[in-house]
Amino acid sequence: MRIVLTGPPGAGKGTQAVHLAACLSVQHISAGDLLREHVDQGSALGRNARTHMLAGLLVPDRLTIEVVEERLARPDTVRGFLLDGFPRNLVQAEALDGILAASGSELDAVLDLEIPEAEVVRRVAGRRLCSQDRRHIFHVAYSPPEVAGRCDVCGGELYQRDDDLEATVRRRLEVYRSETAPVVGHYRAQGLLTTVSALGGVQEILDRALAAVGRGQDESQDRDEAPDPSGS
Ligand code: AP5
Repeated sequence: MRIVLTGPPGAGKGTQAVHLAACLSVQHISAGDLLREHVDQGSALGRNARTHMLAGLLVPDRLTIEVVEERLARPDTVRGFLLDGFPRNLVQAEALDGILAASGSELDAVLDLEIPEAEVVRRVAGRRLCSQDRRHIFHVAYSPPEVAGRCDVCGGELYQRDDDLEATVRRRLEVYRSETAPVVGHYRAQGLLTTVSALGGVQEILDRALAAVGRGQDESQDRDEAPDPSGS
């Protein structure tokens, strides 16, 4: 399956994507993580991207499209992918349409995680990530690690993202409203869009997302790498 997961910052895209990708046996591709890898490497692309990310703005389309296109061309996406955080504007949506058309494939579904902005700010303010594997996501109140400051999965040190300051989150929300929200209309017009409420527990939301793509949670095949979404 080829799925796009969209929604405002802090909606829980990364949290859900880890579980959904495991349930559907597809690659989780996060545009934000790909860009942060370039930032960590200190590449020219990474240095340029970092300026925009720290300001809560979108990284220029040319750079983001290049990074995502290169990732989608790798052989491990043949069974499908879950694209998290891309496309984020209409230019990127049209670029993705073109990339898929060139390879003779198309999207199966677009899931839009819906959440009130007040909850976004609470979620982002408390978010902590594993420094060894950014896919392991915690929250100081909603899903705290068993040992404070340490990842339950691999023991890595937890850290706070430098674009998670409240003022930056509010800027990211403004950018979402003005640039990313129109992408929803693009996919609604293509008959691909399902809105999924992102309120409730992680397992509850996962069940809704699986139902939206026509899969039941009993089809879960491999959750070994992901923390149990029920938190037990
Ligand atoms: P990116 O990394 O994509 O960030 P984002 O879209 O702003 O989303 P977040 O990662 O903040 O949140 P999320 O929805 O994944 O939520 P999470 O699961 O972590 O992008 C960062 C930056 O990179 C952008 O600002 C931009 O500069 C650049 N960028 C990225 N893609 C780009 C593109 N396509 N074009 C241009 N620039 C791009 O959850 C949040 C917290 O809530 C966690 O602590 C979690 O534990 C908790 N939580 C999750 N689910 C629940 C629940 N059900 N109940 C309670 N708590 C929950």
